[in-house]
Amino acid sequence: MNENIVYKNEKEIDKTKLAELFTSVGWKTAEYPNRLQHAIKNSSYVISAWNNDDLIGLISAIDDGAINVFITYLLIKPKYQKQGIGTILMKDFCKKYEGFGRRIVSTELDKEDYYNRFGFKIDGIVMFNKDWKNDF
Ligand SMILES: CC(C)(COP(=O)(O)OP(=O)(O)OC[C@H]1O[C@@H](n2cnc3c(N)ncnc32)[C@H](O)[C@@H]1OP(=O)(O)O)[C@@H](O)C(=O)NCCC(=O)NCCS
Repeated sequence: MNENIVYKNEKEIDKTKLAELFTSVGWKTAEYPNRLQHAIKNSSYVISAWNNDDLIGLISAIDDGAINVFITYLLIKPKYQKQGIGTILMKDFCKKYEGFGRRIVSTELDKEDYYNRFGFKIDGIVMFNKDWKNDF
């Protein structure tokens, strides 16, 4: 476990740092830094992980206050993966949203085992209607 990591629940995060984090795992969202910053700022819940000034991981979610909560992002920079940081973020998320009717995540099939660890099970399908034409 890396003891220099600091966890913050601020929603206002520099867009360059966000884009760099999202680029590190190859996510298209990084190409839309303004939308990304807006999305994080307007999330219901955000915990980010920092090594000094380096944004190394983040979880975000949106919720309706009672029944549904969606994890919108969970990502750790490759250099910091498999050190338990994702688990710290997920455990914090699960604690925060204990008692909600549905905790929901859309992810790739190779992450099934990972989310199983936190009580998630495949149930139905996810459908998207995407629009990535513009950044704000
Ligand atoms: C998935 C991800 C968030 C995991 O974060 P992490 O900090 O590396 O995970 P942890 O170190 O907390 O891993 C905890 C355990 O899960 C295992 N694990 C990690 N990634 C896994 C995966 N994809 N599938 C199954 N198990 C996995 C680890 O080996 C570890 O096992 P151990 O406790 O037996 O040692 C991280 O790999 C990541 O950011 N990936 C790219 C972005 C992504 O795909 N995000 C999820 C989709 S929304």
